[in-house]
Amino acid sequence: MAGTKDGASRGPRLAAGRARALGIATRGTTNPNRLRRMDLWIVRRLGPLLRRATDPLVIDLGYGHSPITAIELFDRLRACRSDVRVLGLEIDAARVTAAAPASRDGMAFAQGGFELAGRRPVLVRAANVLRQYPETAVPAAWSSMQRQLAAGGMIVDGTSDELGRRSSWVLLDHCGPISLTLSCRVDTINRPTDLADRLVKALIHRNVAGEGVHELLQAMDRAWDRHASLRDFGARQRWQAMARSLSADWPLLDDPLRPRPGELTVAWSAVAPRADRPMSG
Ligand SMILES: C[S@@+](CC[C@H](N)C(=O)[O-])C[C@H]1O[C@@H](n2cnc3c(N)ncnc32)[C@H](O)[C@@H]1O
Repeated sequence: MAGTKDGASRGPRLAAGRARALGIATRGTTNPNRLRRMDLWIVRRLGPLLRRATDPLVIDLGYGHSPITAIELFDRLRACRSDVRVLGLEIDAARVTAAAPASRDGMAFAQGGFELAGRRPVLVRAANVLRQYPETAVPAAWSSMQRQLAAGGMIVDGTSDELGRRSSWVLLDHCGPISLTLSCRVDTINRPTDLADRLVKALIHRNVAGEGVHELLQAMDRAWDRHASLRDFGARQRWQAMARSLSADWPLLDDPLRPRPGELTVAWSAVAPRADRPMSG
């Protein structure tokens, strides 16, 4: 693997050339700062996890045709823990070769897929990876990553638009999903349902009547409309008022007194897909 020590000594290793990277190569589109919102949330929410980790190994799975967002993640996490190591994994070998010159102390690149190349990371970020898979591929991809987590480790599986103005992500631990976060640059949306087309793969096909995520987005729109009078004070205040009023009926995990403009995190139990409905293939 290109770069410096990568934590491979912890946990089983799949020998290069023999192990099969799980997944399929997909479009490599990426952009500088596309994942900024997700990264800042990771720093806030998972910084303590990273700080207490015995081995601060983080995997950025599927970094795309340029390693820029992996490097940005590394820089942001280094502010939390100076000895963090970020390993960018790509299923596409040509993208690993292309990223090699960006290797540096603590930042490396290697070929791998949902099996995480046998590493045992404390944190995995998989951004805009599952988006290009069918919904039916999600459970196996999640379990494969969950099996590899270090004790107490977490996964952030997210989707965003090209510029990172609209995004969503699921936080998972080794047992299953914990929460869904919706995040946007609030002055670029007309209504909260504008976020629907950037839902994570596990939910994007579930924005239909009877599913929790659909009810949530509808409730957000209704609360947004109720607070239309705040329009003149700006979209940020309107979003905060919306979030405060939703907290009466929804298990929101944000600070109820100071919701963050353009961000809302809800317990997964409220939005989990209904098991009695078939997944889209
Ligand atoms: C759209 S790019 C995302 C780039 C970056 N993460 C971002 O969000 O801007 C998706 C990348 O994931 C890679 N990919 C797809 N499936 C993968 C898998 N199972 N393991 C590793 N990489 C994968 C693709 O080859 C592609 O380069």
